[in-house]
Amino acid sequence: MEGENTKPKKLIFGGTGYLGKYMVKASVSSGHKTFVYARPVTQNSRPSKLEIHKEFQGIGVTIIEGELDEHKKIVSILKEVDVVISTVAYPQFLDQLEIVHAIKVAGNIKRFLPSEFGCEEDRVRPLPPFEAYLEKKRIVRRAIEAAQIPYTFVSANLCGAYFVNVLLRPFESHDDVVVYGSGEAKALPPPEDIPISIMHSLLAKGDSMNFELGEDDIEASKLYPDFKFTTIDQLLDIFLIDPPKPARTAFE
Ligand SMILES: NC(=O)c1ccc[n+]([C@@H]2O[C@H](COP(=O)([O-])OP(=O)(O)OC[C@H]3O[C@@H](n4cnc5c(N)ncnc54)[C@H](OP(=O)(O)O)[C@@H]3O)[C@@H](O)[C@H]2O)c1
Repeated sequence: MEGENTKPKKLIFGGTGYLGKYMVKASVSSGHKTFVYARPVTQNSRPSKLEIHKEFQGIGVTIIEGELDEHKKIVSILKEVDVVISTVAYPQFLDQLEIVHAIKVAGNIKRFLPSEFGCEEDRVRPLPPFEAYLEKKRIVRRAIEAAQIPYTFVSANLCGAYFVNVLLRPFESHDDVVVYGSGEAKALPPPEDIPISIMHSLLAKGDSMNFELGEDDIEASKLYPDFKFTTIDQLLDIFLIDPPKPARTAFE
């Protein structure tokens, strides 16, 4: 039919989150019919969640409200789409096994991108708190492979804007620096130990640079040679004028 949108339709889980919002907007601006599977808005929902839902509806996103254990609902929406992207956070990593199972049952999905977008978990061995975090991502990888679902695992390593935001907090302005404790503490309670062990692995040990790419890997920047990346220098200038809102991925 003339004018019909023939681009693959996308369904995004976790689309209202930090990374998910970028995915949803990029999907819409690339001309894909975009669906977001999100937990229902209730009277207790944060105002920011209501704003995101409104914003998504304004750009033509179809929001399906539901929980990750609503198998039948998920299978029926999967039948309407071609590509599934998950950007759920750490506490929901293993709930993605429900998505994998539903994709297997639906049988029509052409590609699944699980919630990765961090370091290459099969090739790094960080400190135990981060290792436990990555192990959950590995379990999902193995389940996808076993289910023989077409997939792409995306290792984004450090998203510059996220780490500059978390480390430098450009949204705060202080004349003083506060150092907590005496410096003698030997451990942090979970889940506070996770972000610190992530920093140790990626920024101190350099784990994301400690392996070579193999035949089956693609350096993502080669896929989009024309894309103009923002340098950290440019990002810091942008943040000076337009500080981002606080960001922190969920660890509990
Ligand atoms: N490489 C990097 O620098 C970097 C930085 C940040 C994140 N990441 C990765 O990106 C992925 C997504 O992280 P994120 O920070 O974007 O996540 P997030 O914002 O913390 O959360 C994502 C979404 O998960 C859903 N969610 C939260 N609690 C839930 C629950 N109890 N049940 C079901 N869904 C729930 C929410 O969606 P609804 O409320 O709509 O259901 C939320 O918007 C992770 O794999 C993370 O490791 C990478």
